Amino acid sequence: MPQAELVVVANRLPVDRVIDATGEAAWRTSPGGLVAALEPIMQQVDGAWVGWAGQPDLELEPFDADGIHLVPITLTEEEVELYYEGMSNDTLWPLYHDVISPPRYRRVWWEAYQRVNRRFAEAAAAAVAPDGTVWVHDYQLQLVPAMVRKLRPDVTIGYFHHIPFPAYGLYSQLPWRRQILRGLLGADVIGFQREADAGNFRRAVRRVFHFESKGSTILVRSHEEKHPDRDHPSEPSRRVLAKSFPISIDASVYVELAQRADVQARAAEIRASLGDPQTILLGVDRLDYTKGIRHRLKAFGELLEEGRLSVGDATLVTVASPSRERVDAYMQLRDEIELTVGRVNGAFDTLDHTAIRYLHHSYPREEMVALYLAADVMLVTALRDGMNLVAKEYVATRIDDRGVLVLSEFAGSADELTSSVRVNPHDIDGMKDAIMTAVRMPEEEQRRRMTAMRRTVLTHDVRAWSASFLAALNDARGGAAE
Ligand code: G6P
Repeated sequence: MPQAELVVVANRLPVDRVIDATGEAAWRTSPGGLVAALEPIMQQVDGAWVGWAGQPDLELEPFDADGIHLVPITLTEEEVELYYEGMSNDTLWPLYHDVISPPRYRRVWWEAYQRVNRRFAEAAAAAVAPDGTVWVHDYQLQLVPAMVRKLRPDVTIGYFHHIPFPAYGLYSQLPWRRQILRGLLGADVIGFQREADAGNFRRAVRRVFHFESKGSTILVRSHEEKHPDRDHPSEPSRRVLAKSFPISIDASVYVELAQRADVQARAAEIRASLGDPQTILLGVDRLDYTKGIRHRLKAFGELLEEGRLSVGDATLVTVASPSRERVDAYMQLRDEIELTVGRVNGAFDTLDHTAIRYLHHSYPREEMVALYLAADVMLVTALRDGMNLVAKEYVATRIDDRGVLVLSEFAGSADELTSSVRVNPHDIDGMKDAIMTAVRMPEEEQRRRMTAMRRTVLTHDVRAWSASFLAALNDARGGAAE
């Protein structure tokens, strides 16, 4: 008998499998923002979470962790290759990030994507209580909303898109553009990061199906007709809300960590270990071609070459955490980044100081906060990014209101963090000037800008985000027919 009032469906489960000292496998809640946002509410309403445990061919029974019922989905080795690495991360990811890397369209990947989406949808449909709510997350699962609706017409369905939604001129490349839109339109509420993404989506729906929309509401008909004026005028339409709900972080956790004496001591230790340079610049990303890591390294390298910055006065710490390592574009990018770092360091390092400290690792949250505290300037130079939570994390940790955020206008967070130093990462000269502005910014101006940004991040935290999305879903419940 299905029990859960709220079922979250995401590609990944909110836990990591860890092997303890005795060799036993155990589960640890992963520190992602989504879990933090949903944990309290999931515990309250007997929530369930449907997702993949991150390893191929792992067959696991449902289990409970930290008060959340987890429903693991098995992916075979081949499905990981076709659905996750292929369709999700070599087709949809590059296409939705404005084709920074060329998307590949392969029919076998699409087949696997449909098959795996169905598996997630069936698990969600089986887990949700009568008249309950299903909340689907992100581009890996865009067919799930319509599949769940078909299986369980009684439930209310939400979908949140964590990454950008591209303009129709690019989206229309997708051979399966109709099916994907149909999949998404199965939801009652479709959330995006920026209003620009929601607008792109609504325009795509208009172009493909000729459905009418009023403001953020799309009137969805089940028949797709070429001539909207002539088709089934009496056919009832479903109302689908497609608008922006910018995601955030669990800000209080970052503030608390930043206030801890041991974390502050670690920040001082990091500064000292870098030779106490006047300015520490920091970049933190998954190693992904959307993040503009190469552009940032190029700008920094040129500043050293021109003598506008010097090693010893300034160090750039670059944390690039391993990601999607079996996808070609990621392997290539890693080679390019490591070549560039090697060249810059080879040319400018001294025996005492390094120009770029490059770290291809991921770190626990405490260590990240210590790094944020150690950094005078944070560089977020994404070429395209749904939101970029690193920018918000940096802001949240700056409890003394010092520090400068250099932020790409192509990151979703630029809509809210308007007191950052904004950059177009394609404009290397502009980015160099922005970095110099940040390095030289008087303390009073740093404080003025940081105070404004902290107010935004601390009030619009991830709880506020999930509450506003769930409130929209609640409004949608019952009001679906026109
Ligand atoms: C982005 C996506 C998420 C994804 C994460 C990590 O933030 O929006 O859906 O989980 O990257 O990528 P991975 O492929 O490791 O899940």
